[in-house]
Amino acid sequence: MRQPLVAGNWKMNGSTESIKHLLDGIKRSLDVVSKAEVVVCPPYVYLSGVQAQLAGTAISLGSQNVSEYKAGAYTGEISTSMLLDLQCRYAIVGHSERRSIYGEKDVQVAAKFAAVRAAGIKPVLCVGEVLEEREQGVTEDVVARQLDAVIALEGVEALADGVIAYEPVWAIGTGKTASPEQAQDVHAFIRNRIARLSAVTAEKVQILYGGSVKGANAPELFSMPDIDGGLIGGASLDADEFISICQAAV
Ligand code: PGA
Repeated sequence: MRQPLVAGNWKMNGSTESIKHLLDGIKRSLDVVSKAEVVVCPPYVYLSGVQAQLAGTAISLGSQNVSEYKAGAYTGEISTSMLLDLQCRYAIVGHSERRSIYGEKDVQVAAKFAAVRAAGIKPVLCVGEVLEEREQGVTEDVVARQLDAVIALEGVEALADGVIAYEPVWAIGTGKTASPEQAQDVHAFIRNRIARLSAVTAEKVQILYGGSVKGANAPELFSMPDIDGGLIGGASLDADEFISICQAAV
């Protein structure tokens, strides 16, 4: 019932030339990935160029971050209205790299979620524990705290206007994927927590897995009942790898 979604988070990678090459490769194989909605999230400065190259395709555009403020004296920031201007349909909020390197806190991430939603863009809310938290057995507490910050600000039904991405931080860019069972456990926990407040919202909301997803491990991960697709970092920079992940989302 939930449409699978595969989003490529290119992070701070690429150039005009390499992006053109990557998109040409993805577009060539697009007809075989029709089951999943496919999203690419380039660095801000390439959004406009990528938007032009995506014209006439079914691939959606997303941003990797956004400001929680509307406009004005926020040097270096990008607003939701700018994203809309470039036809961004998705905006990642609260990626673990934003949380850990740039100190974004749950309250700020919730404010970003709210700003994105208010603009009619779909927020992709990232949640996930670091290795130490997993080893301490507090994964569920951490994920619940990150989720509850958004619910407290926007109400539970708001989650259905966005997408949740569970990304265990220890699995990001490390080659250490969570096992399908480990991921499914946390996805089920997230869905059950939402269901306690709104069964309808829980049923609707797509929950993506992220963390070293590749063509080889995607089929097993995506076959889990509560995994609705993936947020893909490194492997989204390789057209063949990204396409094979998209093909696994059925
Ligand atoms: P990875 O990154 O696929 O390179 O582990 C995932 C992410 O950070 O979104």
